[in-house]
Amino acid sequence: MSPAPDDRPEVPPEQAAREEELVDRVVESFAGAEDERLRTVLSSLVRHLHGFLREVRPTEDEWKQGIDFLTAVGHTTDAQRQEFILLSDTLGASMQTVAINNEAYADATEATVFGPFFVEDAPEVELGGDVAGGAPGQPCWVEGTVRDTGGRPVPGARIEVWEADEDGFYDVQHGDGRTAGRGWLAAGPEGEFRFWAVTPTPYPIPHDGPVGRMLAATGRSPMRASHLHFMVTAPGLRTLVTHIFVRGDELLDRDSVFGVKESLVKDFVAHSADETPPDGRDLDDRDWSSVRFDVVLAPGEPT
Ligand code: BEZ
Ligand code: FE
Repeated sequence: MSPAPDDRPEVPPEQAAREEELVDRVVESFAGAEDERLRTVLSSLVRHLHGFLREVRPTEDEWKQGIDFLTAVGHTTDAQRQEFILLSDTLGASMQTVAINNEAYADATEATVFGPFFVEDAPEVELGGDVAGGAPGQPCWVEGTVRDTGGRPVPGARIEVWEADEDGFYDVQHGDGRTAGRGWLAAGPEGEFRFWAVTPTPYPIPHDGPVGRMLAATGRSPMRASHLHFMVTAPGLRTLVTHIFVRGDELLDRDSVFGVKESLVKDFVAHSADETPPDGRDLDDRDWSSVRFDVVLAPGEPT
C-alpha cells in the first residue's frame, strides 16, 4: 500500500498509478485549447474533480445520485429561479468568489453575497424618503455616509437598497407585481444618506427544491440572518455589494449562505413610539428602530 496523500484512502500502488494516469490523460486532452484561461480552468477542474472522486471513492450508485441531484437542480432552474446559484450560495462558493474579487483594501467596507432578489429599475427615493413602499414591518431609520478610503465624501454615489418584509418575503416573491422594500437614492453633497426602511427580520432562502433537500438531509437550516441589502456605485470606485446585519440576531453564526461578516453587524437601536424620529415623521404610534452605516468604497472601477 502506498502512503495516502491528503485525506485519500490508501490504495495499492498499481491502482493509484492507474487512477493518476487517467487524470493526466484528461488534463492532457485540453493541451491544444487555444484559450489559455479555458485550458487553465478545465485542467484545474479535472484535477480537483478527480481528487474528490479519489478521496471519496463513490460507488456507482452514489455517482448516479450525484448526477440525479444536479439534474434536479437544473430542472428547478428557470427564468425566475436559479437553483445553481442557490447551490453555490449554500456551499459557500458564492462567498468565496466574493472574497477573491473584493480583496481587503484599507478600511473599505466588506462585501457579501448578492442574492437573487435585486431588481433593476427600482424606484428612486429622495434623501429621507421611504424605501419600504408599504412593505409590512417596523419602521427603521437608516443613515450614514459614503466615503472613499481617503476619507473623502462621495457625493452622488448611487445607493440601491432592497430587503424582505416582516413576513419574510421580497416584493417579487408575492407574485402580484408589487414594488416594496426596495429603491435607490443618490448620496448628498457630503456623501450623506438617510431613508426609512423596515427593521430587517430573518427569512428562509427558497428551500422547496433540491438545495432545500440537501439542507434538510444535513440538518442545516435554510434561514438567513436578518439583513438589509446595499449596492453602492460611484465613478472610479469599486462597486460594493453588501448587507448590514442586526446585532443580537441568533442566526448570525449560522446564516445559510455564509454571508455574515462581523464588520457588517450593526446596532439597530430600538425606539419606543413616544420618541420622535430624526425627521419628525408621524409613525402612527408605532415603535421604530434606527441604524447607522458608514460606507467606505475602495478604488477601482464600477462593475
Ligand atoms: C438574499 O439575501 O436575498 C439571498 C442570498 C442568497 C440566497 C438567497 C437569498
Ligand atoms: Fe436577502
